[in-house]
Amino acid sequence: MKLSAGGDARLAVTEPNPEVSAAIRRTATKHRYLMCPPTYFDVVYSINPWMDPSKPVDARLAFLQWQRIRDVFVELGHAVELIPPVPGLPDMVFAANGATVMDGRALVARFRYDERTAESAAYLDWFAARGYQARQAAWTNEGEGDFLVAGGWLLAGSGFRTDPRSHAESEEFFGRPVIGLTLVDDNYYHLDTALAVLDQQTVMYYPAAFAPGSQEILRALFPDAIIATDEDARAFGLNAISDGRHVVLPAGATSLSAQLRERGFEPIDVEVSELLRAGGGVKCCTLELRDPAAAEPVPAAAAGGGLSVVVTSVASDSHNWNLVYLQLALTELGHRVLNLGPCVPDELLVSECLRVRPDLVVVSSVNGHGFIDGVPLIGRIRACPELAATPVVIGGKLGIAGPAGHQSRDQLRAAGFDAVFEDGSGMAAFRSFTERLMMSVST
Ligand code: ARG
Repeated sequence: MKLSAGGDARLAVTEPNPEVSAAIRRTATKHRYLMCPPTYFDVVYSINPWMDPSKPVDARLAFLQWQRIRDVFVELGHAVELIPPVPGLPDMVFAANGATVMDGRALVARFRYDERTAESAAYLDWFAARGYQARQAAWTNEGEGDFLVAGGWLLAGSGFRTDPRSHAESEEFFGRPVIGLTLVDDNYYHLDTALAVLDQQTVMYYPAAFAPGSQEILRALFPDAIIATDEDARAFGLNAISDGRHVVLPAGATSLSAQLRERGFEPIDVEVSELLRAGGGVKCCTLELRDPAAAEPVPAAAAGGGLSVVVTSVASDSHNWNLVYLQLALTELGHRVLNLGPCVPDELLVSECLRVRPDLVVVSSVNGHGFIDGVPLIGRIRACPELAATPVVIGGKLGIAGPAGHQSRDQLRAAGFDAVFEDGSGMAAFRSFTERLMMSVST
């Protein structure tokens, strides 16, 4: 397939070689991908040999290149979901690293370098909010950068980023056999820079990126594989996305493109020069969501009506947006929310709780007085026999000096809160708390 000229080009299909298509009919299947806009993309540190922070990045060009990849997916009929980019995380555009996703389960990354560590929380929240069984990997694991699904196996890279101990962890999490592969060339530091899965039986890879034993394994598993040349690998041609028929790959991998065509695939070249300045290409920008059914937004707990939740702040806190955010997040999960707003006097909270009799009270505070104001507040609530057993949690920025030690949290718990969610811990823990509560309320 060739792209017609022009920026807003539709995909124009050129006639496939009749001899080939007579022999092999490749079928495309619909996919769902997760991408992250390169809003904060930059090269300000170096964690792979492609990254040179002394050379300025053309952010606009990077955006256009990313946009093109996304447009091609959409034009091919695939669904593209977006995860909001986070300021200060310039590599978050490489969504493939966020997690590995299969059968409604998402094993979220644990990044090798500090510069990317904070991405995990964003992915954990994203997956948990959509009903995936999500948790962060215990061992260093850079998601689909190093884990690729082929032929019922999980091909798992290691050598530069992913810790081999995460292979066993992933095998257990997904219940799929893992084939460990060792990478040896730091230019190809993730498995997805050295190997691409074209369909369940077919892969293409660059042998020199792998240790000799791993090369043997690949030869045995995939005797029909397409083999990349040095030039293909340097153009990042293996960092490709295939739907079984169309293969979207970085431009410049001429031998790969020709081989793909010979084998009945339709290569679609896209420019990734600017993304490559960070060591990323098509696949790096794309995380596959393999389970459309399970991945639909969590049905509003509507079946059971969800929890009745009162959201409030401590009396001294005049911030409002954290409350609005919580209200939206809880509503999205199917709960019914009464948002009392900021600066709620303790008496008012108690009287509203007596009136509503909620399943859960969420106190959110971001002014740093949560540790101080929270103790008398929960005292007032627990003093009412009717509210003695009502689940009440507190979260946000609770101390003035950033996250405090467990001592302060223990004090709040001892005073009567059921749980304490300090700033920086992400939404996942809070969400699983509400899920557990749902289960106990409905049984
Ligand atoms: N600069 C990023 C890093 O070194 C690039 C990640 C590329 N992602 C991938 N799936 N290979 O972590």
